[in-house]
Amino acid sequence: MRPVIVAGNWKMHTTPADAGELARTIGARTRVDGVTRVLCPPFVCLAAVRDALADPGVAAPDGSGVAVGAQNVHRERQGAYTGEVAASMLEGLATWVIVGHSERRQQFGETDEVVAAKLTRVIEAGLRPILCVGEQLEAREAGADVAATIVVDQVVNALRPNAGDALWSSGLVIAYEPVWAIGTGRNASGADAAAMADTIRRALRTVAGSVAGLGNGEDLTVLYGGSVSSSNIDEFMAEQAIDGALVGGASLKPDEMAAIVARAGLTARARAAATTA
Ligand code: PGA
Repeated sequence: MRPVIVAGNWKMHTTPADAGELARTIGARTRVDGVTRVLCPPFVCLAAVRDALADPGVAAPDGSGVAVGAQNVHRERQGAYTGEVAASMLEGLATWVIVGHSERRQQFGETDEVVAAKLTRVIEAGLRPILCVGEQLEAREAGADVAATIVVDQVVNALRPNAGDALWSSGLVIAYEPVWAIGTGRNASGADAAAMADTIRRALRTVAGSVAGLGNGEDLTVLYGGSVSSSNIDEFMAEQAIDGALVGGASLKPDEMAAIVARAGLTARARAAATTA
């Protein structure tokens, strides 16, 4: 059974002085069984968030805590890259990393090739990647097929150079995040997101088909991201193909995170019950 995951991407918000308290508050208010919780603060806040999440008060009844993720890494292992952070430097600070977020692709010129190289570094460092893919508005308006072609290309271009046992055992998660839905308040429909999740799993089978040991697409965890909030999370969790959410703006608000994780927890427990029935 695939895990249910709610990951919060804090983007360029919070400071080392306030991030720990926010993380602790969110952790304490999202203590439900069955949901893997991840918070991704800015690099400079990773240590404060890690320390705050060591507080036993954030553990769910099933004992699970809140994991820490980074929002990015550099494509090289080390070197003269002023201001950049290598995947290996995250040791002891984070266990997850977001790769290929659309803000990185659009504002920092990250091509599919760069994203693939970053994924390589993340896997090498033993970190768990959340690979983000998604189409722009024009593509969506041109039709679901056009959007699917773009997303499949992003998936295949990131995974094919990394195809192999190390990728599959990295615990890879893919987040479908339509660019037009990010930070706009305009979310995709649950049905459209689920259709894209199915498309992504088929794309993984294409890659896996050529490389033994990569695994079966049905086992791939796919999240939806883009204006997720407490008022629309149910629409996504109602879809069997969607395993949770990558939450941006709402992940900075404890009330919102409490409600989102609570709703995700209902789905997680219903799915677990259906599996054991
Ligand atoms: P949003 O951001 O929830 O604010 O739309 C999502 C994301 O960028 O991952």
